[in-house]
Amino acid sequence: MRLALIGCGGIAGAHVRALEDLWNRGVRDLEVVATCDVVLERARERAGELTKFQKKQPRAFASLAELLASGLEIDAADICSLHSEHHTLALPCLQAGLHVHLEKPLAITLRAGQRILDAAVAAQRVLAVGENYRRSAHERATHWAIHQGRIGQPRLFFWQDVGEGLGKWGWRNFKHAAGGGWMLDGGVHFADLFRYHLGGEAREVYALTRHFEPYRYDSPKERQGAYRVDVEDAALALVRFDDEVVVQWTWAGSAPGQGFNKRVLYGSEGCLDWESGWHGRDGAQLSRDELLAEYLKSLGKEEEEQLFPGGTRDAIAIELKDFADAVRLGRVPEVDGEGGFKAQAICMGVFESGWCGRPLSLQEVERGEASGYQDPLDKALGLI
Ligand SMILES: NC(=O)c1ccc[n+]([C@@H]2O[C@H](COP(=O)([O-])OP(=O)(O)OC[C@H]3O[C@@H](n4cnc5c(N)ncnc54)[C@H](O)[C@@H]3O)[C@@H](O)[C@H]2O)c1
Repeated sequence: MRLALIGCGGIAGAHVRALEDLWNRGVRDLEVVATCDVVLERARERAGELTKFQKKQPRAFASLAELLASGLEIDAADICSLHSEHHTLALPCLQAGLHVHLEKPLAITLRAGQRILDAAVAAQRVLAVGENYRRSAHERATHWAIHQGRIGQPRLFFWQDVGEGLGKWGWRNFKHAAGGGWMLDGGVHFADLFRYHLGGEAREVYALTRHFEPYRYDSPKERQGAYRVDVEDAALALVRFDDEVVVQWTWAGSAPGQGFNKRVLYGSEGCLDWESGWHGRDGAQLSRDELLAEYLKSLGKEEEEQLFPGGTRDAIAIELKDFADAVRLGRVPEVDGEGGFKAQAICMGVFESGWCGRPLSLQEVERGEASGYQDPLDKALGLI
């Protein structure tokens, strides 16, 4: 598959390393023929890295318009830009007949996301969203344990990351570029994991979001070199999933002193702790690594090859190979546009509930009936 790598910043580097990993394992379905970044130097740099193992040099472009007008034969795009440029890049790619693999989140707002979904349907092209977390061996083992009934019927899912982070983080500090703070950027991975592990859909969300710290700093300790930011720095959410499972999801980047992280799923027969592993109600226990070893032993050769192509453990390599297979075989990728939209909607549900101060059904959020938080963004982007 002839691929264009669009947006050549930080994560694009991880995509190049993932492609190299596949290449070195003899899994050679994907070849990058073009790189593109508004900072041409970055596109050239990634092209250079790719040439080292592909032996063929991709052409570097400074804009998608130039790339699409170049006449270069391309089958698909791998979009790795900031959130505000996901829909502006995905739409022309799909309209030009390219299959699209898009870094998470699907889009900066749900309206922008819906436009991408509609364009993929209209163009009849594969749309995949880069959700690498679920593809790590440990998350696969966790999923297997849950679905084997190791903890019985899931009940309560605690996902809590609390601490302080006041350093500058570029576009991620600004709503018009990122759509939200960490609750969307990292959060969309977690929302995807909730869906993946629980196997059901979120139905209702109630959240309080806060913006305690108006500035980020070059030197957070001394509070020097400040700029003003406008994304949340704390969110406390309750999400009701199918079968009355409750997710209690907290993130805070404005909690100084001693932070904590706790991620545990409780079921009727035991729990899975993201640090210490499996605990049965009778006191039996397996560490995360022991659980992983049991899981890997349970896999047949074919299943193992599909989950970890060529034996790789690189989660981005695995998602890119899944995308290539989906295009080649005409099947749906593991996380398609719809899956990306559902995970994004949980994050947007947190922001929308925080904005209007009441519990919201996910249906209201997905249909755009609760959109007060996103409306100014959509207006600025010309989407309403
Ligand atoms: N899956 C993961 O674990 C993971 C990790 C980090 C980032 N990401 C995602 O990857 C994406 C990019 O994040 P990043 O950290 O690489 O950001 P980044 O700022 O390092 O890179 C973004 C790049 O996009 C380029 N760009 C901006 N507008 C463009 C346009 N119109 N055309 C072409 N290029 C354009 C920028 O010049 C920059 O080089 C985001 O969606 C982010 O959420 C995913």
